[in-house]
Amino acid sequence: MANSQLFLRKPLPMLLAEARGENRLRRILGPVQLTSLGIGAVIGAGIFVATGAAAHNVAGPALMLSYVFAGLTCVFAALCYAEFASMVPVAGSAYTYAFATLGEMFAWIIGWDLVLEYAVGAATVANGWSGYFQTLLPGLGIDLPGTIARAPIIYDPNVGGFVGTDGIVNLPAVIVVAIVTYVLVIGIQESASFNAAMVGIKVAAVLFVIMVGAFYIDPSNWRPFAPYGWTGINIFGNHVAGQTDPGGQPVGMLAGAAIIFFAYIGFDSVSTHAEEAKNPSRDVPIGIIASLLVCTFLYIAVVAVLTGMVPYTSIDPSAGVSSAFKEAGLGWAAVIIAIAGVAGITSVLLVMMLSAPRVFLAMARDGLLPMGFFGAVHPRFRTPWKSTILVGVFVGTLAGFMPLDALLHMTNIGTLLAFVIVCAAVLIMRKMHPEAERPFRCPMVPVVPILGILSCLLLMFSLPAANWWRLGVWLMLGLVIYFVYSRRHSVVAKHAGLLR
Ligand code: ALA
Repeated sequence: MANSQLFLRKPLPMLLAEARGENRLRRILGPVQLTSLGIGAVIGAGIFVATGAAAHNVAGPALMLSYVFAGLTCVFAALCYAEFASMVPVAGSAYTYAFATLGEMFAWIIGWDLVLEYAVGAATVANGWSGYFQTLLPGLGIDLPGTIARAPIIYDPNVGGFVGTDGIVNLPAVIVVAIVTYVLVIGIQESASFNAAMVGIKVAAVLFVIMVGAFYIDPSNWRPFAPYGWTGINIFGNHVAGQTDPGGQPVGMLAGAAIIFFAYIGFDSVSTHAEEAKNPSRDVPIGIIASLLVCTFLYIAVVAVLTGMVPYTSIDPSAGVSSAFKEAGLGWAAVIIAIAGVAGITSVLLVMMLSAPRVFLAMARDGLLPMGFFGAVHPRFRTPWKSTILVGVFVGTLAGFMPLDALLHMTNIGTLLAFVIVCAAVLIMRKMHPEAERPFRCPMVPVVPILGILSCLLLMFSLPAANWWRLGVWLMLGLVIYFVYSRRHSVVAKHAGLLR
């Protein structure tokens, strides 16, 4: 087995031939539908839930600028995604791009990393869903006992580590994951009209927050603007700049950006629909960038309203947006927002739990995972049911027993790593294949990809250090599987005559 296999690239013509081959999806999506799919995948637990905790514990009103910074980082990455999506308009997203540019081992790493993004991201979203759902229960006269309301541990910034709670399991989170898994197995996939309805509800809720909340802003709540400072950078646990919380973890505007980066995750999923786009080389970049711009605008406005309505110290960390309205005496509005939040977050959960088995499927088709399990399509439902159930069990376990912030940090660091690789891959591809047709070209190369890489790394270093270790463990586990299994079964290596 040659070492060159590690860097063996999937030839561009092979990818394009696969895209033209049989079993491909129908090309029915235009720019508006793609943008709407993007918004559907993006607006969810991040804005409805994580924003409250980030404003309260990490950034204060400067969280508005955290959203600007995280949004810019995503724009750099989005431009790079868009170039790839226009060049290689096939499903599989960053995994496929890496296989075309960086070779098999990096493709494996990014595929494995994407599963982390989607599966741990889904657990985060389920956890956030549970938080919002629980704010609705008292109104229905239901009092959920603490033992089944939350995970057994929670991160305490005063201690800088996990402490025990009165909970045993976050049961609502586990139940919603089980329901979504069931729905995905029997194959009621997101239809375009279902998605459009969800996007409508979410965007309406967000606009409602902005327009009603604007009347209740008291600008004195924006002072002090950056009570936790501007930076907050730790390199592998060593504090290098800005403030930290009593537990030694970074806080401040940048640290806030590293947290609410979560709210932007999902725009990249537009590129997974490249196979279904009518005119992928034009419409996918439009869909990616337009959905990102719309969300950035809405998010900044929501945070301005949220931090203007209540002093950041009294924002509820578990259901920020709806609680702020309750506090302002708008109880009825809080209920509407919570219902819209629950509905909107559910659709994000559906997309994330749909995406992880799709990445597994792309990897299995390349021989990097056992086709018998990860490629198995249910005879009646026509869904990748075995990997969907596996992902469901994994997501349900994490969502039931891990606290929101640990899950969220983990998702962010995994996604940021994927973005770094995609930005680097654009630079490499321009060098190696300058002649390839690029219907959409990322502007100002190499400046934009380099800024993308640097801003993602900066955010990665603004997260609590433990995440680097957790990411390392996940990637090591992935590499063990790669060397033990995938490398010996690679379809591309067989094609290239490196394996028999
Ligand atoms: N961006 C998605 C959310 O906020 C993951 O829920």
